[in-house]
Amino acid sequence: MATTTCIFDAYGTLFDVAAAARLAAAEPRRAALAAVWPRLADDWRRKQLEYSWLRAVMGRHADFWTVTEDALDWALEANGLADPELRPRLLALYRELPAYAEVPTTLAALKARGLATAILSNGSPPMLAAAVASAGIGSLLDDVLSVESVGVFKPDARVYGLVTERFGCARDEVLFVSSNGWDAAAAAGYGFRTAWVNRAGLPVERLPARPHHEIPDLTPIPDLARP
Ligand code: LAC
Repeated sequence: MATTTCIFDAYGTLFDVAAAARLAAAEPRRAALAAVWPRLADDWRRKQLEYSWLRAVMGRHADFWTVTEDALDWALEANGLADPELRPRLLALYRELPAYAEVPTTLAALKARGLATAILSNGSPPMLAAAVASAGIGSLLDDVLSVESVGVFKPDARVYGLVTERFGCARDEVLFVSSNGWDAAAAAGYGFRTAWVNRAGLPVERLPARPHHEIPDLTPIPDLARP
């Protein structure tokens, strides 16, 4: 079936999640962070995802901002970063993460072809609204869908169901785009066409379904939408 709807994961796919630690590390008087920022960024992201999955399994949902704060606290302690001013600074930067360079042109190309475009993210509505506004991409998106509508994180199938419900489309009319291999795999298992943006050059996830496409960045996306 033709692609009618192109759906994007947010963090790591449209927005550069490592940017908060990288930008803070470049600020004055940040020598301790500058020495460890890549590890801090990795730990923060890994714990954020682990906590999202664990909370989903435990049936103990909290919104993604809370999970992001909890993950940062673990990562700061693990990296010996005790500066009390650093936590709020990193969180402020996280609220306004930059979009990857190819995001506006990719979204504009999809809109020019008449496709519906939206975000589907673990992010809470306020954090997604802040990121979309600071990246200036709101006019290129038809909607921003948050897991908060169903109260459970990806890859629960109820999250992917928000897309077909919102756009009234069949599953295989959706091209779902994520830089998270597990998210792309789960969305493929759900019945979406999927593109995995493998920015980090990682091996494919050994999960029950595999993404249909593997691409290095978002540039090929308009060509992957089926006419
Ligand atoms: C999201 C996370 C998984 O935006 O990146 O949903």
